[in-house]
Amino acid sequence: MNTPRNDSTLLDVRRLRVHFRRDGKVVRAVDGVDLQVRPGECVGLVGESGSGKTVLSRSIARLMPDAILDEISGEALFEGTDILALSEHELQRRRRTRFLSMVFQDPLSYLNPTRRVGQQVAEALPAGLSRRQRREQVAHFFTRVGLPGDRATQRRYPHEFSGGMRQRVLIAMALASSPRLLIADEPTTALDATVQIQVLNTLEKLHREQGMALLVITHDLALVAELCDRVYVMYGGQVVESGDVETVLKTPNHPYTRGLIASVPGEGAGHRGAGLVGSVPNLAALPTGCRFRPRCPHASERCEEMPPLMSIGSRGSSRCWLSGSEPAEDEVSP
Ligand SMILES: Nc1ncnc2c1ncn2[C@@H]1O[C@H](COP(=O)(O)OP(=O)(O)OP(=O)(O)O)[C@@H](O)[C@H]1O
Ligand SMILES: [Mg+2]
Repeated sequence: MNTPRNDSTLLDVRRLRVHFRRDGKVVRAVDGVDLQVRPGECVGLVGESGSGKTVLSRSIARLMPDAILDEISGEALFEGTDILALSEHELQRRRRTRFLSMVFQDPLSYLNPTRRVGQQVAEALPAGLSRRQRREQVAHFFTRVGLPGDRATQRRYPHEFSGGMRQRVLIAMALASSPRLLIADEPTTALDATVQIQVLNTLEKLHREQGMALLVITHDLALVAELCDRVYVMYGGQVVESGDVETVLKTPNHPYTRGLIASVPGEGAGHRGAGLVGSVPNLAALPTGCRFRPRCPHASERCEEMPPLMSIGSRGSSRCWLSGSEPAEDEVSP
């Protein structure tokens, strides 16, 4: 969807391109993505494994080391400031203030095993608090994410916790900096079903009560349906469809989105057409034209030309010649 750049956009990603070089080839992990999150909004990002979701989100948070990149271009405006253009010094300063926070799939790799969990959450708090205030704040954030706030719990080490508890510590750390945007990259895939629901309920509650915007990256379409206002579908480093959740999930436009939904167990392949066949494209050797063409049941000669992301009325956008509408403004001019 072509959202105008204005004050009501918290995160405004414009034509983001993130390429790697691997074995002498360019891996087009993120290839011209536009994505917006408004204050207090919950946005889903879905797509099969290897579609570029993690690279996209880590780039926005400036967590991709420059050294491994072949190209990074476009803009990632957070409250109007291009995060990609910040100097290292400015980035550090911003991180200490009101930058976004991220929660990852594997909390153990982001927690320091040698430091007490309470200390780690305390470090994320704003500077200038007294010892006592810090301790109170840590207890507050622990209870907020459903952990006991007592001293004994705060003084434990990450390895003394279960996977679900560690994930909660990570969320408590993310929240301690009072972010206006929390990016959660598959925050629950490593957890068992009951704990998944608890962690998600925690995120949902914080989103609702604190007006914190959420960008949720997941394979779980039912979760997106329940939690999100809008959704972006990624395929081969590009957004192929976006729009409000109900429309996209109930009446998907792009053949890839349709396939993705039909592939969900219990959604009944056949009821919405066949599930996906074949596998995601190699990002270092992409097909010409539409990247979904080799797997698409509707592919025709026209698809040898790359379709632009076309706006399809008020319902959103789709990158398919069959969507039968005008190109979204952004894609017309180079
Ligand atoms: N440091 C890197 N160097 C080279 N290629 C990379 C690097 N990091 C990621 N990639 C490639 O970028 C592509 C996109 O990966 P990414 O992790 O963003 O996918 P994803 O959509 O998050 O998948 P999943 O759903 O499995 O998490 C993959 O082909 C991956 O191999
Ligand atoms: Mg990922």
